[in-house]
Amino acid sequence: MGWVGSSIAISILHKGICQHLLLNDLNKDIAEGEAMDLNHGSSFYPSAEVKAVEISEMMDTEAIVITAGRGGKPGESRLDLLRENIEVARKISSELIGYKGILIVVSNPVDVLTYYYQKFTKIPVEKVIGTGTLLDSARLRDEIGARFNIDSKSVHANVVGEHGDSEVVLWSKANIAGLNLRSWKEWEPAMEEEIAEKVRVAAQEIIKRKGATNHAIGLVTASLLEWILRGERRVITISRVVNGPYGFQDLAISGLVLLSREGASEFLEVKMSEIELRDFNKSALIIKEVIKHVK
Ligand SMILES: NC(=O)c1ccc[n+]([C@@H]2O[C@H](COP(=O)([O-])OP(=O)(O)OC[C@H]3O[C@@H](n4cnc5c(N)ncnc54)[C@H](O)[C@@H]3O)[C@@H](O)[C@H]2O)c1
Repeated sequence: MGWVGSSIAISILHKGICQHLLLNDLNKDIAEGEAMDLNHGSSFYPSAEVKAVEISEMMDTEAIVITAGRGGKPGESRLDLLRENIEVARKISSELIGYKGILIVVSNPVDVLTYYYQKFTKIPVEKVIGTGTLLDSARLRDEIGARFNIDSKSVHANVVGEHGDSEVVLWSKANIAGLNLRSWKEWEPAMEEEIAEKVRVAAQEIIKRKGATNHAIGLVTASLLEWILRGERRVITISRVVNGPYGFQDLAISGLVLLSREGASEFLEVKMSEIELRDFNKSALIIKEVIKHVK
């Protein structure tokens, strides 16, 4: 229930997708304070009970979102966080053995932690979902929309790979309402690297200014939960353990994934340009290397 947890909580409440919202933090006062604060707003969102609880009291829920662990410091890469956050993952996973719901991992480095939460808890792979590049795809759509003065909801463009420095924008498929972005009248090739870089460093730029990123990931995660709980079969960019597609074996990475009530049902093997595929493979190798370093 730090920066990210509290933003996810308020976004979930506004969406009206839960009856019971259970909050937990290592620091019990924070979870209790947030529950009190959120309950005081109950006249302004669809009915829901908000309570601070122990993790053991969450075992009958439909979904758990994990935001526990430290955020990045200015200049630090997400992978630098691993040493500390893997220990948090080990501890929380040991309390989640036998959990039957959907586990959504937000804590960074999100791909590596998604992999280890699945290994540590032994929850089926489709039920352990990392928000991955869903946030990066949202940032990309916002940036493209802003350039052309078009609502980001009409922009269809995706980022795959690591939620981090090696992420890959699928420019060959990017479009505005079906019209290929590269044939859009104001489009210039130089924009691709410029926008990709802006998306890549977006978190650092925000952290430099306000110390954390929280609102966009709050909205992204609440929407992800809504789509899963409503059984919406959306195709989105999220991270999950993959074995097979693109020849990937035993790692978690973001690609285009078909969602369902069961979670991240199918990792789709969509066609990419040669360069995109090369970079996607590189990104997978980087994640895999980091996974190997965890003892
Ligand atoms: N995936 C994404 O797109 C994305 C976006 C933003 C932030 N993040 C990540 O989310 C995580 C949280 O970021 P934040 O800014 O909210 O950090 P924060 O420091 O504000 O909050 C983290 C909270 O985790 C709690 N915590 C630590 N260990 C715990 C445990 N064992 N059990 C329960 N609670 C525990 C801490 O007490 C703290 O309140 C970070 O790892 C950050 O990098 C991910």
